[in-house]
Amino acid sequence: MDEQFAQDVMHGLSAEPKYLTSKYFYDKKGDALFQEIMALDEYYLTRCELEIFQNAKEDLLIQFSNSGKSFDLIEFGAGDGKKTKVLLDYFLKKGADFTYLPIDISQNALNLLAADLRQSLPSLKLETLRGEYFAVLSQLEQQPGRTKVMLFLGSNIGNFLKPVAVDFLSQLAHTLAAGDLLLLGVDLIKDPKVVASAYNDQLGVTKAFNLNLLTRINRELGGDFNLKEFIHAPFYDPETGAARSCLISNSPQTVSIERINATFHFEAWEPIYMELSQKYRIEELEQLARQSGFSIIKHYYDSKKYFTDGLWQVSNKTDK
Ligand code: AVI
Repeated sequence: MDEQFAQDVMHGLSAEPKYLTSKYFYDKKGDALFQEIMALDEYYLTRCELEIFQNAKEDLLIQFSNSGKSFDLIEFGAGDGKKTKVLLDYFLKKGADFTYLPIDISQNALNLLAADLRQSLPSLKLETLRGEYFAVLSQLEQQPGRTKVMLFLGSNIGNFLKPVAVDFLSQLAHTLAAGDLLLLGVDLIKDPKVVASAYNDQLGVTKAFNLNLLTRINRELGGDFNLKEFIHAPFYDPETGAARSCLISNSPQTVSIERINATFHFEAWEPIYMELSQKYRIEELEQLARQSGFSIIKHYYDSKKYFTDGLWQVSNKTDK
């Protein structure tokens, strides 16, 4: 049993209102469901970022290499690497001198990614790194004259509460050196209908993605959640830009979780908060960059301006 998972479930289901942490969505089944989500008509985020990379790859190489220098391209949570591959492929074709270092907590995810990249881009200098993001990053040596370029894509930053995003980015700026770069993919505030349907797809894949965490608790912690007794209820607040999903108990019920030795009572229509997918305004991103010790070099957009990849640079440490 994963101790941290057990503790987090105990903590979240004892809280008021109840919540679970969306980072636990990603077991094997959750990874597969997320792949399906990324291919859904309603889930525009991945396609938008892919379009941005296809159009901006030339400029990104100029920026990353500072017109021809070598660099390390370090990615937090690379997933299947589909979008990043557009960049890697182009950079290799242009003869850029860089190493790609994906960091992930899952050795399985890294193995799959490495097998794919070794086959499709055999000349790529690749170093996979397993562990917690910052623990791994702080171990990497600072090589003079070699820029670190961080990739944090897919609006993963949106899964953090805003103050947690500030802490995360501040820690990143602190761990990097002045002048290092970050390419940050962020979903923007837009027509509420477009956002709402991205998290409430017709095929019910997002619903299955949420319910899968209850299945995981049943399997790994000996829970007895009855999935039929929970309704998937995503909602979007256009004022704050917060897209949230929750599972709502459709009747009064008690759930036992054997391995944490606990039972939890649910009232009829009581929610469990599952995930936040925060959408941002450009002005908020500018503020976020300043607060965390970065300056923004530029924003790249897709043609609909649904999504942005911001190129951020660590400010001079004395400026902070
Ligand atoms: C990984 N993350 C940025 C996705 C998102 O949009 O918040 C996870 C997701 N949840 C439901 N659909 C996709």
